[in-house]
Amino acid sequence: MRIFRSKKIIGAALTLCVMSLLAACGSSSTDNSAQVAAGREVFMNETFGNEKFFGDTLGLHTVLNGVAPKDAVALGVQVDLNKVPADIVAVMTGSDLAAKDAALSDPAVTRQLIKAGAVIGVKGSYATTAAGDTTLTSAGISCALCHVTVKPTTFTLTAGATPLPIGEPQFDGVPNTRMDAGKILSFTPFAVANGLSATLAGWGPGRFDIRALNELDDSVDNPTAYPPLWNFPDLQVNGYALGWDGMFKGTNALASISEAVYDLIMHGNGSFAATHGAIPPALAFPPRQAVLDKFQDNPASTITADKLLQVQAFLQSLHSPAASGFDQLQAAAGKTLFEGKAKCATCHPAATEFITAGRYSDITAAPPTGDLAGGIKVPGLRGVSHTAPYFHDGSAATLPEVVNRFNSRDALGLTDTEKSQLVEYLKSL
Ligand code: HEC
Ligand code: HEC
Repeated sequence: MRIFRSKKIIGAALTLCVMSLLAACGSSSTDNSAQVAAGREVFMNETFGNEKFFGDTLGLHTVLNGVAPKDAVALGVQVDLNKVPADIVAVMTGSDLAAKDAALSDPAVTRQLIKAGAVIGVKGSYATTAAGDTTLTSAGISCALCHVTVKPTTFTLTAGATPLPIGEPQFDGVPNTRMDAGKILSFTPFAVANGLSATLAGWGPGRFDIRALNELDDSVDNPTAYPPLWNFPDLQVNGYALGWDGMFKGTNALASISEAVYDLIMHGNGSFAATHGAIPPALAFPPRQAVLDKFQDNPASTITADKLLQVQAFLQSLHSPAASGFDQLQAAAGKTLFEGKAKCATCHPAATEFITAGRYSDITAAPPTGDLAGGIKVPGLRGVSHTAPYFHDGSAATLPEVVNRFNSRDALGLTDTEKSQLVEYLKSL
């Protein structure tokens, strides 16, 4: 099969591992802070040339050139306070509410923020390097768009309004569940011209259909929730497979899924699963043949093994926050239920970080469709109180909704007290 064909590449990647990147290749916790820092930089800023798709093909820059900051943040865009130009900080921290409102309604401020690198996950291109030239001629995206949030400051639109997402980036793996990437793309000239706007806008915040707008297209509208990116070393020791469908597994699976995302989903300049790919694909099972047939070799690929292994090291450094804010006694009762009457531990045993092998298509009320129809892997549950909404389709808004779903699915006959005890246990993980 084509996807496994290049022995030469496998050999080269292994040599690379042995030579200089031991920390990223093994599961040992060697001090690899330089790798982690480099990987965070790649994760935050690298586009691998996807401006060609998001800018030149979709026309994302024309949307960004005209959007007011308040409309952008309403769509989930996060702003890195460390990079906001001083004059904008002065307005935002000042007491002149009218000036604040004016700034937040002015697309020129959005353009200034993007040019300063303050809009997380968005990279602008410009005709000149002149400081005053803030009109984007193209735009690309980085991983951070959907996977990084900021800790909001007290900047407010008007006194007492919701804090704006302007603050310190949190490198903690919590997904940006307010990011409505589909809606942002729905405004692009490409989406409008091709009648895609309604579908894209329908995905909703915190979800993206990675099996659309690219070679993975399965002709079905099945947007999935952004999973948290944490606890990978512990999960992978127990056989965790990546992606809701569990397609990526094995040595360097995190680097491999990153290559697939950069090349296929983000349309970077890559060659995933072909001769000039950066690393051998680490797969639990291959995509269907029709998808494999669409993969093309690209001798000019600029996606490199070293950068992918840096991203992997960064991802491996992320851990879910310590549990807090739960009732100890209720959680203890919930643990007994989890392992007994509620049958949760049959699929989520604590001894294996709450995961087991196997894929299921009957957990959510609406079964997964398209290329997800083969089933959804069992996700880990640590830190789960921080990652609502739940399930691959985001169909359960809260933990009580998750418990209700299993209660009816498995006819568990849980009382209201038992349900809340289970929720307290989930909050303790
Ligand atoms: C447009 C939003 C978006 C961007 C940008 C994005 N992701 Fe994701 N990510 C998702 C979604 C949605 C999923 C779930 C996809 C699925 O399996 O259906 C996901 C899943 C993942 C997973 C699997 C986690 C698990 O527990 O199974 C990893 C790892 C990951 N992303 C890393 C990355 C990296 C690295 C990048 C940059 C190369 C990136 N993502 C860019 C939305 C995004
Ligand atoms: C038959 C195996 C199975 C059983 C039993 C089971 N789960 Fe799950 N669980 C899964 C699978 C598979 C998913 C992902 C389903 C999807 O997204 O479509 C999941 C998802 C979850 C999620 C959402 C995780 C996320 O990140 O979105 C939570 C929370 C959860 N289960 C808790 C429980 C609790 C509590 C019980 C017992 C009441 C339970 N599970 C019983 C297999 C199981």
